[in-house]
Amino acid sequence: MRTDMNLCAYEIHSLSIKNEQIKIKELLAYGTNAFVYKVEYRDRSYILKELFPEGLSEQRVIKRDSTGAVLYRLRIIDKFKWQRVKLQFLLSIYKNRLLQRNLAVNDCVSQNVGLFRTNGTLYALYENIRGKDWSCYAGESLEELIIRCSKIAEIVYRIHRTGWLVMDVKASNFVINATESEEHIQLVDFDSMVRLSFARKKSKFYCSSETAPPELLEGRGRDVGVNSDVYSLAAMLFKKICGVSYNECKTLSLLMPFIENWSKERQSKFVNLLKMVLCPDITRRDISAIEFSRKLLELLR
Ligand SMILES: Nc1ncnc2c1ncn2[C@@H]1O[C@H](COP(=O)(O)OP(=O)(O)OP(=O)(O)O)[C@@H](O)[C@H]1O
Ligand SMILES: [Mg+2]
Repeated sequence: MRTDMNLCAYEIHSLSIKNEQIKIKELLAYGTNAFVYKVEYRDRSYILKELFPEGLSEQRVIKRDSTGAVLYRLRIIDKFKWQRVKLQFLLSIYKNRLLQRNLAVNDCVSQNVGLFRTNGTLYALYENIRGKDWSCYAGESLEELIIRCSKIAEIVYRIHRTGWLVMDVKASNFVINATESEEHIQLVDFDSMVRLSFARKKSKFYCSSETAPPELLEGRGRDVGVNSDVYSLAAMLFKKICGVSYNECKTLSLLMPFIENWSKERQSKFVNLLKMVLCPDITRRDISAIEFSRKLLELLR
């Protein structure tokens, strides 16, 4: 997610799609290919993603007019970028819809309800999952962190069973819809997802450097597998517990202050589990997402 720019410069307050007004309530994020807004449409709250490639607006290649429409002055090279990002944007909606139509996983993925072409760009409308993504939570207990990570690991496992890899497992990509008695987690970002069979042929992956395993960062497609997502699950949990990225510090010793009240046996079970899952060599990371989920819960018994 981009934070290196003055977002206000690109903010708009309302949009007109098919002669209907969409009120922009809040700008949630500016990723590599889109602005993500919380909006009001027909008296209901939704999430709206607007195709707006990173880099082009900063170079003043694309800009808005007073109605919010996107205007271009695209050179050949920018046209190429626009088309590539547009394809990624459309593919992301396609993958989301594929999973939302699959009864095995439809309850744990965001729901796309529309795609519009207007204002010189594309818009995708989603049900607003009422809640915050996991990166916005603070002050959770160690037990809560482990339980949430275990639930996310179960979701990732269910997605693996459909033949897809998530490839960008990180806290901000999971939104938690919590009521007093229960909570429900959903995956909202499908940009990086690839079919397991196709991943092995790839040499470039779009992933977050904080949680991605070495084989993704180094583009070694032949080594990529379900265990790549399991690495990211563990790296995500490490970041939630310690507040720093495992990929930056590469040491599990930072965990110790957070588990000092645990018995020696439980401490070593946890550390050994993370050591195995965060091993740079994927062949030694021999654990599925569901096994990882179960082993996390076992720690709490
Ligand atoms: N359907 C949804 N309901 C509620 N919140 C959502 C929904 N979709 C996205 N969000 C919120 O918007 C944020 C950004 O969405 P998303 O992850 O799709 O794009 P991005 O973060 O810009 O992409 P990237 O992760 O590649 O930087 C999420 O972290 C989440 O907080
Ligand atoms: Mg995201």
